Amino acid sequence: MKFFLDTADIDEIRRASAWGILDGVTTNPSLVAKTGRRFDDVKAEILDLVKGPVSLEVTATDYDGMMTQARALAAEGEQVVVKIPLTQAGIQATATCTKEGIKTNVTLCFSANQALVAAKAGATYISPFVGRLDDIGNPGMEVVADILEVYKNFNFETQVLAASLRHPAHVLDAARLGAHVATMPIKVIEQLFKHPMTDIGLARFMADWQKVPE
Ligand code: E4P
Repeated sequence: MKFFLDTADIDEIRRASAWGILDGVTTNPSLVAKTGRRFDDVKAEILDLVKGPVSLEVTATDYDGMMTQARALAAEGEQVVVKIPLTQAGIQATATCTKEGIKTNVTLCFSANQALVAAKAGATYISPFVGRLDDIGNPGMEVVADILEVYKNFNFETQVLAASLRHPAHVLDAARLGAHVATMPIKVIEQLFKHPMTDIGLARFMADWQKVPE
């Protein structure tokens, strides 16, 4: 399973990169806004730091506007994946990007039928938003399972990128289902390392080590 960091914060990307387990980064307009910085500056720094897939989202909502932005973003680097919302214009843009060899991450996916449409357009990744579905009382992970089942039936190559993951149990569930990628905030990645028994065990080893004669 690939791990992507869901952020536009450069310090977080630096910190998580140092662990050696990070495969890529996903951003969205809200995450960029949270930095308080210009998109162009944030984008340049992320692309400088991260050589794995970096999802950068279009902000146009019409087909022509999306394509103008998609082509410009894709020209910024080999690792750029253009993030496109799952609307009719977005799917049309995704299909054109596929024809032009531009990698895509179709975002704001909340159902398996939407994911089916994205796969037919040749999306590189589909991003079901698990946490946001949970928020409205629909089990988000069931949608991930449905998408994986449908894609397997037809050997679609689109990778399932479990998104809007809010806690470690989401990551485990996505991994057990076989989602290709999990994108998560740094807090969730940090929680994956943690177990109280590890801390207790390490403290005991260190205390015992003090008793070993030199
Ligand atoms: C995915 O690529 C999105 O950026 C993200 O996972 C959305 O998460 P949220 O629902 O916590 O905002």
